Amino acid sequence: MIYIKNLADHVDQDVTLKGWVYNYRSSKNLYFLELRDGTGICQCVVSKSDVPDEVWEAAESLRQESSLEVTGNIVEDERSIGGYEMHVSDIKIHQVAEDYPITPKEHGVDFLMENRHLWLRSQRQWAAMRVRNEIIYAIHTFFQERDFVQMDAPIFTGNAAEGTTTLFETEYFDEKAYLTQSGQLYGEAMAMAHGLIYTFGPTFRAEKSKTRRHLTEFWMIEPEMAYYDLEMDMDLAEDFIQAIVKQVLDRRSKELEILERDTEKLKATVENDFPRISYNEAVETLKSDETAELLDQMVEDRQEERSELMKEREEIEKERGSAKKWRKAQIDERIREIAARIEQIEEDLRNIPGWKESALNFEWGTDFGGSDETILMMQYDTPIIVHRYPAEVKAFYMKRDPEDEKLALACDVLAPEGYGEIIGGSEREDDLGTLKKRIHEHDLPEDLFDWYLDLRKYGSVPHSGFGLGLERTVAWLCGLDHVRETIPFPRMLGRLRP
Ligand code: 4AD
Ligand code: MG
Repeated sequence: MIYIKNLADHVDQDVTLKGWVYNYRSSKNLYFLELRDGTGICQCVVSKSDVPDEVWEAAESLRQESSLEVTGNIVEDERSIGGYEMHVSDIKIHQVAEDYPITPKEHGVDFLMENRHLWLRSQRQWAAMRVRNEIIYAIHTFFQERDFVQMDAPIFTGNAAEGTTTLFETEYFDEKAYLTQSGQLYGEAMAMAHGLIYTFGPTFRAEKSKTRRHLTEFWMIEPEMAYYDLEMDMDLAEDFIQAIVKQVLDRRSKELEILERDTEKLKATVENDFPRISYNEAVETLKSDETAELLDQMVEDRQEERSELMKEREEIEKERGSAKKWRKAQIDERIREIAARIEQIEEDLRNIPGWKESALNFEWGTDFGGSDETILMMQYDTPIIVHRYPAEVKAFYMKRDPEDEKLALACDVLAPEGYGEIIGGSEREDDLGTLKKRIHEHDLPEDLFDWYLDLRKYGSVPHSGFGLGLERTVAWLCGLDHVRETIPFPRMLGRLRP
């Protein structure tokens, strides 16, 4: 089989490509077919005078997403999508598609989500899935090269790991079972057998909130390391993120271009150390005069941008009346862009006062909300690591800071550009008595944790780990504003099909 991604090796040769019609247009004597084969898109040109009548008729019968084989000669052509073009000599149709519901015209996101099984074929979705695949590859490479053992944690579990409010309950014969929220507790057991391990699997949270960052089913990667303290945990998290971003930049530049991703901040992530700030410092920043000023400035900037956009829109609307057809299309496209941007600005303007209010009145001891994270990150181009959170907002298994018992030895990695928490981790409580006490404080049934407590009875050691959310990482690297486009078939509140 010859694939479009390899056409550089077939210039001046006759080849057959097998794929689907991505797009087409025709004139009296020429037919332009954009063929996609899963690896790329190639423009195939059918010239009426160069082919038998049947081939011309076959071309004219095609519809969007029809499946076919095209044979022809490959020529280099810089102007063509992908850089190569086929001069067609033959066409073999597999199926002429029915009227395809997704056309190049605008569709609302609900419609696209209903047609997710088809939407996956569109270029942006294609590019995002390729980036997702690269991230997965980078993750395995990173850990395998460091001799971490990959483990599969169970999906049916008997106990909660991350709080009891987001558990999906199910029947397990005559017992209750839960879909796992995290593989961590099992990862800890495996780390005591192998030293360095990582899980890579689906996790489930009955999140009732509809946000850009929450799925009910998402994939988590959880390394767990015996004899690692919090410092070493944070070092590993930083190296890990940098390795992933570097590999995506090196190998998926074409996909990032399709996604129109600005890669400057991704480069900054690879090249710079991540600032590490304590929760206490983060709270100080949130409540500072500088934050208030920053937000006031943001309001001004947004207002100014809005009035400039409105001026531009007025001008091009005037021009539209007498514009040529191609220019009209250009103007319409720009007007759509402006409308979308203004809508976003207005949403920001509605939100900023609330953000300011919640930042300035932030109470020590609570967890950061989405807007608090956004504000904290406005000052950085790279991810940051926030460590030593109040123990009360964190999970039962976290070790306390010996210098301040109110704090947990926790660390979260926050991504820049408003993407929020991508990693949560900690050093684990390794003392049997203290861990038992925590289980009671969190109202968890001790008997369900007896196996976990055994890990503290038989050779307990200091150990640490963290969990990376795959979909939030994909969203950040692709520059997507919602996690629903980061996984082939997203599961979230109100979405179970397709
Ligand atoms: O911070 P979390 O809840 O940490 C844990 O589950 C620990 N057991 C990890 C560990 O130490 N081994 O979740 C880890 C990450 C978050 O930072 C976020 O990226 C992602 O998982 N995540 C979600 N992603 C999408 N939808 C949701 N509902 C998510 N909840 C968490
Ligand atoms: Mg967390």
